[in-house]
Amino acid sequence: MHFTPVITDSILYIGANDTDIDLFESKYPVKNGVSYNSYVILDEKVAVMDTIDARATDTWLTNLLEALSGRDIDYLVISHLEPDHAANIEKLALLYPDMKLVGNAKTFAMLPQFFSLDTKDRQVIVTDGEILSLGKHTLQFFIAPMVHWPEVMVTYEQTEKILFSADAFGKFGSLDHEEDWLEEARRYFINIVGKYGVQVQALLKRVADLDIHMICPLHGPVLTENLGYYIEKYDTWSSYRPEESGVVVAYASIHGNTASAARKMVKLLWEQGEKNVVLYDLARSDVSYVIADAFRFDRMILAGATYEGGLLPCMENLLLQLKSKNYQNRFVGLIENGSWGPVAGKRMKEYLGGMKNVTVAENIVTVKSVMKEENVEQMRELAKILVVA
Ligand code: FEO
Repeated sequence: MHFTPVITDSILYIGANDTDIDLFESKYPVKNGVSYNSYVILDEKVAVMDTIDARATDTWLTNLLEALSGRDIDYLVISHLEPDHAANIEKLALLYPDMKLVGNAKTFAMLPQFFSLDTKDRQVIVTDGEILSLGKHTLQFFIAPMVHWPEVMVTYEQTEKILFSADAFGKFGSLDHEEDWLEEARRYFINIVGKYGVQVQALLKRVADLDIHMICPLHGPVLTENLGYYIEKYDTWSSYRPEESGVVVAYASIHGNTASAARKMVKLLWEQGEKNVVLYDLARSDVSYVIADAFRFDRMILAGATYEGGLLPCMENLLLQLKSKNYQNRFVGLIENGSWGPVAGKRMKEYLGGMKNVTVAENIVTVKSVMKEENVEQMRELAKILVVA
């Protein structure tokens, strides 16, 4: 993804790529790294838009000093206190003792949890819609609680019509890695912010009337063209609507027999004319990819082996996380396996029953150890139900 440190004549990018990180938030694999974005607005007053993760402090400070060319900083705008953006607040405040910190009431309520810095005389506490003039540039703040923490706010710069969007519209992947926005933006959004769809919808409505020419997120590329495309994706994801027609087939198999049934299920779906099918081995796939596709498509088949009177942990983990991300409005078919006392189907159905507007196909296919011809027929019936669901 190509990027330039010059965003506009007076706005510079001072963030950093992190290609050494293995797991973002100690959870999400990021094989192409991640970027921590930060920006400087140079005007009569100088504003820094967020700091970055402690993992890249040196690069950020070098970029910052170069961008400032000897100027002081008047304001540090704190969009979000999560350490991937806020780790350097105290360091910057100590380096620039005249710099004011701009945040909302929740920002300053939470800030002492992270830092011992006394900010009482340096706080600019803003409310929703409030304006701060830098000279030619005017910042307008919109409080965006739970996108993705309670204190989050986004900033609209009125003159150049730029939305500094905090975590929203971000993606995994460092900025020196060329890749399409969609896949890793979807995986980022669904897994990290997906739980808070209602709050994202509220933010989208709040900024709907703004004339936005550019979006500067805290991760991933600056978005400059075709902004309606990105906003439409956010609207779809945050309203829990499927993005496209298709089926995720996800299996948890102990010795390979449930896997065989799942692979057969894919072929039966193809046979019924369903071409958009993605297969996941849950024991060998990171669950964040499965969840992203579960939200992308409108239907899902879960094939689970019975294990110790319950579910294999990788299937249980998927279901727990789907619930946590507010998975809803989908149709799901179930295949269970068990050599004695199969209960996987019942357990999977119980989990899905706790999710909003998730319909489970009535007939659960039960495989006893190894798929038989009668199971193939049952799965064919399930495939027929899936393609018209
Ligand atoms: Fe990129 Fe919620 O921090």
